[in-house]
Amino acid sequence: MKVLILAAGLGKRMKSKYPKVVHKILGKPMINWVVDLGKDFGEVGVVVGHKAEIVKHYLPDDVSVYIQEPQLGTGHAVMCAKDFICPDQDLLILYGDVPLLKKETIERLARVHEESEYDVTVLTFVPENPSGYGRIVKHDAKIKIIEDKDTNEEQKKIREVNSGIYIFSGKFLLENIEKIRNNNAQKEYYLTDVVAFSQHAGTVLLEDPIEVSGVNDRIQLAQLESIARQRILENLMLSGVTIVDPESTFIGPDVEIGMDTIIHPFTIIEGRTIIGQDCDIGPYSHIVESKIGNNAKVVRSEVEMTTIEDNVSVGPYSRLREGTVLKEHVKIGNFVETKKSVIGNRSKAQHLTYLGDATVGNDVNIGAGTITCNYDGRNKYPTSIDDNAFIGSNSSLVAPVKIGKGTIVGAGSVITKDVPEDSLALGRAMQVNKEGWAKIKREAMDNANSKK
Ligand code: UD1
Ligand code: CA
Repeated sequence: MKVLILAAGLGKRMKSKYPKVVHKILGKPMINWVVDLGKDFGEVGVVVGHKAEIVKHYLPDDVSVYIQEPQLGTGHAVMCAKDFICPDQDLLILYGDVPLLKKETIERLARVHEESEYDVTVLTFVPENPSGYGRIVKHDAKIKIIEDKDTNEEQKKIREVNSGIYIFSGKFLLENIEKIRNNNAQKEYYLTDVVAFSQHAGTVLLEDPIEVSGVNDRIQLAQLESIARQRILENLMLSGVTIVDPESTFIGPDVEIGMDTIIHPFTIIEGRTIIGQDCDIGPYSHIVESKIGNNAKVVRSEVEMTTIEDNVSVGPYSRLREGTVLKEHVKIGNFVETKKSVIGNRSKAQHLTYLGDATVGNDVNIGAGTITCNYDGRNKYPTSIDDNAFIGSNSSLVAPVKIGKGTIVGAGSVITKDVPEDSLALGRAMQVNKEGWAKIKREAMDNANSKK
């Protein structure tokens, strides 16, 4: 089947410069939750309207985009995407502001739709308070959906309501979508009116209304965030991950974590992040779009777009930025920043270091306070440090520069020229000792004072 997501609405109550559907839940824009769900079922199309350019920016390249301008109702939104509808395929309708719908629910909807060969199958639910929703009125195999503002006193009492999620037969939808009119309380073209044209429609009742909760304001945004968070953490725990304190742990929907890894408190893991087995992550760590191997440790650190191989240890208080690759058994200690740098097996940078645009070999020791000076105010330049090199503390490596295999750089050096292998490189002022000078100076000062 094909999947059409309606996301043209305004979302006034968000009180935002940005369209509602790009607001994030666990670091992922709402619309992307829905697009990813849709992709499990077929080709995805999205109807955008309000601030369309911003929404489009978040959509992956392989979805078709349809513009609805102005927004004249859900039926009108579907008309705007008429080219997307195929007569020989079913069409699943989703909303861009309903992010927590489960895959299993759509599977159930699809099963009923197929087995019963309905023209349209409507996902319904029974909320605590039905006001605001379209009421479901059934007559044999006919279904009428009466919008809240169009209900009479009798209809208002109906408790089963429309979720807005349906599967339509493409053929039925194409034959009937143009028939709807806007002669209703809101002067809108209602998609719900198409349902009434069918002689053979059905419903699937959803037990847990949370799944179809929409987001209208930022209070609901936070509520859904909390529900999504709990769901994800529970799934992880059931799959063998220890979450020490679920209350202070935030893990996004696209994160994978291996068995026996422990997530310590106050940790946030976002984006497409994959973490292996037997790792210790946190406390106080933030990891975004990164890949971490097995048996790694990340304590009190920021990690973004980084690859960390097996048995690596990071932190506390380090910042690994985009393009960092730490090979096996690397040790990154406290107050170390890395960017676009590859650090070879067993190499160490334990204290107060910046490595940018650097390629570091195996078994290298980077002393405390080492800085790669990779930027001249205009351009960035590379530094390479070959296997077994030893960089003395407080050295500046002015790029572009190459440090040869097995080389020792004396502490406090400013290195501006390449160093051949197995050398000692010293780039600092020669030390001068003036013997007795301090004592003579003190005596002179004492004399001057006693004459006063
Ligand atoms: C709609 C249903 C109602 C159902 C409710 C569930 C209709 C007429 N009514 O109500 O039966 O109980 O959903 O939440 O369909 N949208 C567009 N273009 C538009 C209007 C809406 O893309 O012109 C999108 C919105 O962005 C939103 C979705 O469609 O994602 C639903 O719109 P909303 O206004 O919330 O639905 P209602 O009309 O209140
Ligand atoms: Ca509305």
